[in-house]
Amino acid sequence: MHKDLAYVMLDEEKLHEKVREIAGRIEADYQGKDMMMVGILKGSFVFFADLVREIHLDFPLDFMIVSSYRSGTTSGDIHFIKGLDKDIKGRHLVIVEDIIDSGRTLSYLKPKLLEQGAASIAICSLLDKPSRRVVELQIDYKGFEIPDEFVVGYGLDFAETYRNLPYIGVLKPEVYKNA
Ligand code: IMP
Ligand code: MG
Repeated sequence: MHKDLAYVMLDEEKLHEKVREIAGRIEADYQGKDMMMVGILKGSFVFFADLVREIHLDFPLDFMIVSSYRSGTTSGDIHFIKGLDKDIKGRHLVIVEDIIDSGRTLSYLKPKLLEQGAASIAICSLLDKPSRRVVELQIDYKGFEIPDEFVVGYGLDFAETYRNLPYIGVLKPEVYKNA
């Protein structure tokens, strides 16, 4: 285990088992449909790479970059940094996230993508912190519900570090304090 972690919450075996389970569900649900997988960068990159390799269908994939700025008491303002390159008209989209926290990012994205002509939008998130939710959001494919602790690894970062850890762990409090 990395020295900055208090404990490992989800090890590689648990993650990969869940990835295969979700991939199987997506594969069954999108058989014969015009589907596209969309990863939200940067946090989803590891989960996305593992997930798409377990879905045995032919489909295009793309990435989006969105960012949310939060200051003081004002609610998060969400901006597209990179949209989709491909036309999504009539396509069934599966949006892949690392973690749903407040739910703001995806509740902003979903109507925008429907406006651009997507036939349907499903949300797939490896992690869910339901206690942090401020806007309602349906998660169609969910990996794990976790308590309100700050987690890193398997794509998730703290100050752009720890994304490359192959498991998900909770940071020691002193790591935040020193940052
Ligand atoms: P929200 O659901 O719009 O609040 O956005 C969730 C985003 O917040 C995720 O995509 C992550 O980038 C970030 N985030 C939330 N909780 C954590 C965490 O525990 N570790 C790392 N990033 C997190
Ligand atoms: Mg993120």
